[in-house]
Amino acid sequence: MYGKRILLGITGGIAAYKIAYLIRSLKRQEAEVKCIMTPASSSFISPLVVSTLSKNEVAIEFWDKASGTWNNHVEYAEWADIFIIAPATMNTIGKMANGLCDNLLLATYFSMKGKTIVAPAMDLDMYKHPSFLRNIDTLIHDGVAIIPAEDGELASGLEGQGRMAEPDHIETHLNEYFKRSAPKLDKKICITAGPTQEAIDPVRYISNHSSGKMGFSVAKAALLRGYEVELICGPTKEQLFHPKLRRTDVKTAEEMLDAVQRCWQKCDLGIFSAAVADFKPAKTSKTKLKKENTDEFIELVQNPDILKWASFHRENKQKVVGFALETNNEQENALLKLKRKNLDLIVLNSTQDKGATFGGEMNKVTIFDKEGLVIDLKLQNKFEIAIKLIDTIEKLDA
Ligand code: PMT
Repeated sequence: MYGKRILLGITGGIAAYKIAYLIRSLKRQEAEVKCIMTPASSSFISPLVVSTLSKNEVAIEFWDKASGTWNNHVEYAEWADIFIIAPATMNTIGKMANGLCDNLLLATYFSMKGKTIVAPAMDLDMYKHPSFLRNIDTLIHDGVAIIPAEDGELASGLEGQGRMAEPDHIETHLNEYFKRSAPKLDKKICITAGPTQEAIDPVRYISNHSSGKMGFSVAKAALLRGYEVELICGPTKEQLFHPKLRRTDVKTAEEMLDAVQRCWQKCDLGIFSAAVADFKPAKTSKTKLKKENTDEFIELVQNPDILKWASFHRENKQKVVGFALETNNEQENALLKLKRKNLDLIVLNSTQDKGATFGGEMNKVTIFDKEGLVIDLKLQNKFEIAIKLIDTIEKLDA
């Protein structure tokens, strides 16, 4: 489930209370979860519970009066890898099958490009009703997957088939779906991430504010696309585990270059998001420098340019993507780097943009290619940006 974007639609049935367990379990497995509720469902489970567990705001209406936000069904549909509607009432299923679109959840369903899965929940007579069975046939024909209701005691007190599948059964279906749909790529990416540290003496160093979040987000997005990833990172607190990930931890720019050189020939693509220190002290003192007997200046020498090395030592098929972190004359500087370093794409981010670049979860970037393509991405989560970056790179091959 790691990094999967699961959109959960909750409709008005008693089984809605079980959804809390499903959300919790999906979050434990590091899926991203957003929820859309029908107005009726909030009588069965509180939106506060749903938003607290999913760690995201819950959308109920198109227009959220309290926050003044417009909940865009198309954005939800584009965001989701999968839309799971659980519990799905007879009413919602009927509307889905017949093109009725009178709430946010339904509008999102009709906008979905990815898969929708439905877990019905209702009383046993409704579950057998010809009208319900007709609607289910229509949904299957429309490409919707159905997780059949289970047998047992129903809220009405009757016994029979109609209980929503248990959350762990729903999870099994989700896991199977993701396993079946996992891309089987045979491509390898080299990604650099985080800062480098250049020692002045055993206790001091030159570095920068990079946290590694941007590079790790790129690695995560690439893994989800099925790439094998060589992640070479400077000192960072970020964590990532995946069978197709090989992580190499380094400290200095020299070490980072060495690690890139070791894997580069085996890679189809390089994405260089590390904030490499351009300079290092000419000498590293073996002992701690003392104020009294240290010169006023520390002599610096240039570090190797890792990105440039990779770009100028590539086979034709290898694509090279750089980042540019600028404080001023942003576009001009980024385009110069694109040209001088002979890149396929450059991703510009600027310290002028509030809430972007170093440290946080968000970034705002513009992607340029050498043919003049410009893609402006608004301020958004680094992972979202990483997905759009991989999309853009894949279009270079198309
Ligand atoms: O890690 P985060 O906190 O999430 O922050 C993300 C980020 C701001 C660090 C990231 O988005 C970013 O902009 N990374 C590149 C930072 C940088 O060093 O930019 P630059 O303009 O100085 O370098 C241009 C390119 O050359 C970069 O791809 C860089 O990795 C590469 N480079 C630079 C110098 C050098 N010696 N070797 C290199 O490979």
